[in-house]
Amino acid sequence: MAVHETREHDVLIIGSGGAGLRAATSASAAGVSVGLVTKCLLGKAHTVMAEGGIAAALGNVDERDGWKTHFADTMRGGQYLNNWRMAELHAKEAPDRVRELEAWGALFDRTKDGRILQRNFGGHAYPRLAHVGDRTGLEMLRALQDSGVHLGVDIYMEYTVIELLKDGDRVIGALSYDREKGAFTVFHAKAVIIATGGIGKLYKITSNSWDCTGDGPSLAYHAGAELIDMEFVQFHPTGMVWPPSVRGLLVTEGVRGEGGILRNKDGHRFMFDDIPPLYTDQTADSEEEGWRYTQGDKEARRPPELLTRDHVARCIVREIKEGRGSPHGGVFLDISWIKEKLSDAEQHIKRKLPAMYHQFKRLADIDITKEPMEVGPTTHYAMGGVRVDADTQMSVVPGLFAAGECAAGLHGANRLGGNSLSDLLVFGKRAGEFAAQFARDNQAGQVNHDHVEEAVRRTLEPFDDVDEAGGEGPYQIQEDLQAMMQDLVGIVREEEEMERALVGLERLRGRARRVVVSGNRAYNPGWHAAVDLGHLLTIGEAITRAALERRESRGAHSRSDHPDKDPAAASVNIVIKKGFDGTMETRRETIPAMPAELQAIVEEMK
Ligand code: FUM
Repeated sequence: MAVHETREHDVLIIGSGGAGLRAATSASAAGVSVGLVTKCLLGKAHTVMAEGGIAAALGNVDERDGWKTHFADTMRGGQYLNNWRMAELHAKEAPDRVRELEAWGALFDRTKDGRILQRNFGGHAYPRLAHVGDRTGLEMLRALQDSGVHLGVDIYMEYTVIELLKDGDRVIGALSYDREKGAFTVFHAKAVIIATGGIGKLYKITSNSWDCTGDGPSLAYHAGAELIDMEFVQFHPTGMVWPPSVRGLLVTEGVRGEGGILRNKDGHRFMFDDIPPLYTDQTADSEEEGWRYTQGDKEARRPPELLTRDHVARCIVREIKEGRGSPHGGVFLDISWIKEKLSDAEQHIKRKLPAMYHQFKRLADIDITKEPMEVGPTTHYAMGGVRVDADTQMSVVPGLFAAGECAAGLHGANRLGGNSLSDLLVFGKRAGEFAAQFARDNQAGQVNHDHVEEAVRRTLEPFDDVDEAGGEGPYQIQEDLQAMMQDLVGIVREEEEMERALVGLERLRGRARRVVVSGNRAYNPGWHAAVDLGHLLTIGEAITRAALERRESRGAHSRSDHPDKDPAAASVNIVIKKGFDGTMETRRETIPAMPAELQAIVEEMK
């Protein structure tokens, strides 16, 4: 028998980041048995790297904040391509999810009167990010893990899912192998939630960790789910650029939220040059005070560094391209200047940005309390992913749910910082609850053992005799793929380059089919990389096809051959689906109109 063992659960969750753990908590609390499979070790999922905070309109720092403003900010940031129902649920439910996390033991920085402190972040009208220094993701995972473990969730660490299993149209489990022994396990479940996070490892420069290889959307796509918004890949404006070994590592927007400013090599604060016309009544005040604008009848004051990420990243790229960059190909980000207005600036920076302080000190020998950092854009987040029902998080495939970064809809064309952690909490909870309900309402399906045997055989192919196969190892293929995506489907795109990328993907797929690995199945990283390749190639193709189809520039999707917005595409999703012949199909679909009451909120907040 190729399969070592079979595990039975009502609900199977794939992924141990914030969304997976929050889903596990609510599914388990609903009284069903829950198994959680994770590629990494518990506590090491990429959520742990989230720094700046959780966006939720608690109104602790500015009492004018509320769900309506958060909703309007999220929609504006997403250029109105968002699933408005998800944006509504998210804005309404995020405050309760944060308070609940606090009740489960998560620590937060505090206001003087003891409430959860909130900080400024790009695109948010008010200080909205609940945070603990710049280690919010770590604290979130710690609190969620504690609650999950106490609820008796069965956790399978270092298990990689290879394929979702189906009975007819319905998903009924997953086939996986464990890294320790390389043995195959069938997880038989009544409902499956994918919560696998991002796709950053498709690109050469990324803030994402090794496990962000797009497994969830790829598994879902091959199981018949639809993907949307794949063209929208967020390039965070500030990643490290030096030394080369840490290029791409995140420099939290919290630095700018705490007063950090961007300058080019001439010392010019270039973000003042490019405040979008959207803010028609903006007035550029003194540099120190930032720039002021009114929102409805309310006044807000913000530095231009806190415009949305797509905009800031493009301004940085312009400075670098036009020869005004820093020595190592970035621009300067300076927080040390706050000593001009804060007597305890050094302590303040170390207290509010401890991870940043240590990161730069240890990795680049830079003391950020005294000198500027060098930063540049880094692949950070996929707005696209599995299309889900807004309320239940179920995909178009019965029994298959998705939550967190691997699901799509909430963020539209561009995500606001901090909205990912609140997304994980709000929709992780919903996915867990509705998957539990699905599991209660449905019997277990039948596992097709022939199908399983075939999947196992395919997964073991890279071990075939090296000489006979005539192939190469997986790492060079992965590196070539990352370089190609970075060059041809990166921050600024054009048709001819993306057509070349499609040809390149086909060639890389041919090489991946002949990939070989040596050694045995136990702890074999080469084999793991070979499995990842399949997912990366699927997601690379989906991004490229969606980006080709959207012939305009909007949000995080920027085309040099179509630099303007196309009004005809203003409320269109690009939908990706696997065709009957196995090829990837693309279609355009109009987003349903917003109900009048939500439209009124958007108008009021404009
Ligand atoms: O900059 C940051 O701390 C990232 C936050 C986010 O992507 O939400």
